Amino acid sequence: MVLNSFSNLAFLTSVLVISLHLPHRALSSSHGGFLLEDKVARPPAAGMCAAAAATLHGYKCQEFQVTTDDGYILSVQRIPEGRTRVRRGHIRPPVLLQHGILVDGMTWMLNTPQQSLATVLADNGFDVWISNTRGTRFSRRHLTLDPTDPEYWNWTWDELVTHELPSIIGFVFKQTGHKIHYVGHSMGTLIALASLSNRKLHNVKSAALLSPVAYLTHMKTDLGIVAANVFVGEILTTMFGMAEFNPKGDAVAMFLNALCAGSGLNCYDMLTVLTGKNCCLNASTVHTTLKNEPQPTATKNLVHFAQTFRYGVLSKFDYGNANFEHYGESTPPVYNLSNIRRDFPLFLSYGGQDALSDVQDVATLLEILKPHKKDKLQVQYIKHYAHVDFVLGTTAKDIVYNQIIAFFRRHNK
Ligand SMILES: *[C@@H]1O[C@H](CO)[C@@H](O)[C@H](O)[C@H]1NC(C)=O
Ligand SMILES: *[C@@H]1O[C@H](CO)[C@@H](O)[C@H](O)[C@H]1NC(C)=O
Ligand SMILES: *[C@@H]1O[C@H](CO)[C@@H](O)[C@H](O)[C@H]1NC(C)=O
Repeated sequence: MVLNSFSNLAFLTSVLVISLHLPHRALSSSHGGFLLEDKVARPPAAGMCAAAAATLHGYKCQEFQVTTDDGYILSVQRIPEGRTRVRRGHIRPPVLLQHGILVDGMTWMLNTPQQSLATVLADNGFDVWISNTRGTRFSRRHLTLDPTDPEYWNWTWDELVTHELPSIIGFVFKQTGHKIHYVGHSMGTLIALASLSNRKLHNVKSAALLSPVAYLTHMKTDLGIVAANVFVGEILTTMFGMAEFNPKGDAVAMFLNALCAGSGLNCYDMLTVLTGKNCCLNASTVHTTLKNEPQPTATKNLVHFAQTFRYGVLSKFDYGNANFEHYGESTPPVYNLSNIRRDFPLFLSYGGQDALSDVQDVATLLEILKPHKKDKLQVQYIKHYAHVDFVLGTTAKDIVYNQIIAFFRRHNK
């Protein structure tokens, strides 16, 4: 699928393609398509904490609702403490985990508690908050709109930058009274970088960016490239309309199937095709993941990613002839990453096998960050890691998460 960058498109498509090869495809259960809210997307009444109970093994988990300033009602979870005791009087610094595209916050809790970032942080004395982007199964309500309304899906990551992220951060800050550490994966890194370039990331102390995505020009994902080139303007009006992109719906399955057939790609091993050769996934976790993910997003969001890939510049959504009407200029405004404050603590971790967050594109980002204060920028390169290893890798705790914890502690003033 699409497009680019995001995380777990991969999963998404692996489900789809596998399903397409089976006679009793799971997809048939959600026929009716795109605009109908399907079973998969509807939240269980008890929310994500209940859904995650099997992997949370007795960790405290709390559910919150956050209403964004553009009316979306999001589900946010909190794991306020770990299973290990910390000394009395210790303040637990809040950390917000922001997942990538086509997945939801559950991805941070799918491995064992000793391996998953959410529980590892809790056990290390952090107060862990997990967000779920609009449109994913636990975050499908809105003050006035319903997911069956096309307007509900009228957004891209621009709106996550201007409305969603500030609303969530404001909420966590208000609840805890402390500035926040941020962890983003894939699209979660993109919206943080864009917010930082606008100097709009208030009440955030530091950020750890895993599989950073800002430039996509060198993306190695063949299917992503094909899709990005297909996913141009007209698709908005013809094939999908302004609508939900539901990876578990028939329309998307047919689209991907046609794309794979038409391009001669071997789409059987989608996870690898889309995200690179992940070294360190647990087969049993991948199985659970396929049951939980992928999650819907807005078609318009995917079109925006396709633009990012094609243009090589990070800018707001390109409305073509209507740019003037939207922005008062003929081209969309650019997110200028040179404007990121040089003393903002940033931790970047990227992988040599990552097909979405390509090494060359990360190099472009690092070049822009060159003037950053040396003691405020920590960069980690993991040769054998691909896109999904950062979230679901069984070795990620030892290789990446311990570094993040040390980094947050160092920048906890
Ligand atoms: C979508 O949002 C844009 C601005 O963000 C607005 O100009 C446009 O009218 C909206 N379209 C629909 C169909 O709601
Ligand atoms: C793989 O996942 C299962 C189920 O969570 C777990 O019991 C097992 O210990 C994991 N294996 C590794 C190598 O992490
Ligand atoms: C981005 O900002 C830098 C420094 O503020 C400036 O020199 C550069 O021209 C800007 N680039 C764009 C494309 O606006």
